[in-house]
Amino acid sequence: MEVSDVPSPAEDAEPRAVSVSILKGGVGKSTISVNLADRLAARGHDVLFIDLDPNGHASYGLGYESAYKGDLSIGDILLNGDDVTFGDVIYPTDFGFDVLPSSGSLEMVESKLKNVSFGDVRLRQRLVEPLLGDEYEYIVIDSPAYRGKLSDNGLVATQNMILPLTPERESLAGFKRTMERQIQPIREQIGLNILAITPNRLGSRIDQRTMDRKLVEDLNRNFPEHVPEYARITPEEFEKIDDGEIVPLPKPGIRNRSAVSEAFSEGKPLGQYAPENDQVECFDELARIVEVGGTNHD
Ligand SMILES: Nc1ncnc2c1ncn2[C@@H]1O[C@H](COP(=O)(O)OP(=O)(O)OP(=O)(O)O)[C@@H](O)[C@H]1O
Ligand SMILES: [Mg+2]
Repeated sequence: MEVSDVPSPAEDAEPRAVSVSILKGGVGKSTISVNLADRLAARGHDVLFIDLDPNGHASYGLGYESAYKGDLSIGDILLNGDDVTFGDVIYPTDFGFDVLPSSGSLEMVESKLKNVSFGDVRLRQRLVEPLLGDEYEYIVIDSPAYRGKLSDNGLVATQNMILPLTPERESLAGFKRTMERQIQPIREQIGLNILAITPNRLGSRIDQRTMDRKLVEDLNRNFPEHVPEYARITPEEFEKIDDGEIVPLPKPGIRNRSAVSEAFSEGKPLGQYAPENDQVECFDELARIVEVGGTNHD
């Protein structure tokens, strides 16, 4: 990467924590959260990535298999705060951000959290409040795909979320489910901001009646304020697209790219595996959205 290409932080950047979360599996939560952490770090910030999903996909992806199987883990912070230090469970990486891996014991931790007092605010009190704005400017959490004590802890701790959606039949149903079952109940207690709703794994034309077209059009019609610039297509632009007036056709992101999944299986963020890949700028845009707390358009 040329020095002039190194992204710089937004002027109004402020420390923030964010969960990449939706009650649906396999839509890119781990991929997006790892790449978001990478781009925030590339923009010069101190960043902590937390894998809060008991499946540990991101931890395995980043090479933390032995930590996942190890003794001390995030569960000890959540349940036995006094016996464990941050240094016991947080690992520096070669990527420029620190990692707090998941653990094979997290499912058990989750069921124990049901029986402790204030079990939803543990992550916030014991980790995010002490570290955010002090040790780290940004904390990015990869959430489980189901509602439970862990995903609730993530949302309560960050109070900010990014939701990924893939172009499938009923793709907005995952968003609606998350809204009704998780976002609204939490909002009755505390603030919870949606920083962005991003499409992921787009691959087909948007001038035909494809799933991509439906997802991108639905998002832009219903939630324009949450759509990142790389996927923003106004209703007027869709009309022009249908009239053949916009050539070449826009290719909104985040696109389905083999480099994205290859990077993940090679244990690297995309920006380091394939810095020239055209989707890196999508993750950079998400990083900018997290810096400033939203998309800046309505
Ligand atoms: N933009 C993309 N291009 C290509 N492959 C992708 C892209 N985004 C995600 N994938 C692949 O899709 C699969 C699911 O992605 P990922 O693991 O990030 O989803 P998830 O929501 O975290 O899943 P889970 O709920 O199982 O934890 C992975 O194999 C990943 O490499
Ligand atoms: Mg995952």
